[in-house]
Amino acid sequence: SGQSKDQRSIVLVGLMGAGKTTVGRRLAARLGMAFHDADVEIERAAGITIAELFERYGEAEFRRGEQSVIRRLLGGEPIVLATGGGAFMDAGTRDLVRQTARSVWLRCPLDLLVKRTAGRSHRPLLKTGQPREILSALIERRHPFYAEADMIVDCTDDGVERTTERVAEAL
Ligand code: S3P
Repeated sequence: SGQSKDQRSIVLVGLMGAGKTTVGRRLAARLGMAFHDADVEIERAAGITIAELFERYGEAEFRRGEQSVIRRLLGGEPIVLATGGGAFMDAGTRDLVRQTARSVWLRCPLDLLVKRTAGRSHRPLLKTGQPREILSALIERRHPFYAEADMIVDCTDDGVERTTERVAEAL
């Protein structure tokens, strides 16, 4: 497993704390592909942090930048791409991903998301209230969209390496 002949990029989607970046990096190493993190690329392109982007320009502007960064990243060599948790909510971004890549939803239970995002002040969406309530509302709103991914892999608390293996097996 993990030696797929499919040459398309692999795009990880799912909520904040699902492990997209950690699993994506490990998966890329395993498959011998380059890894990119859309959040990092957005910050690089903008020259400021995501928190600052939200603060200065608002979420809508952030989403526009996010989509153009993802478009650029998926336009080159096949890569493993970790997207921000909101990227797949945009119909244009979903279409783009569907046409050019394979998508994997890292589906993660609420408790694990809460545990993994605890104390992460760099995520502007989690600073507006109680993280558990925010994440629970995001699960309600976003899961139907993530469900449109090509593959679904469940995250469990038994370590990112196991989750990475399950993604590799699903490909
Ligand atoms: C967001 C998730 C973040 C980042 C931004 C918005 C979201 O990425 O893009 O804070 O809307 O869920 P991670 O999922 O990598 O934390």
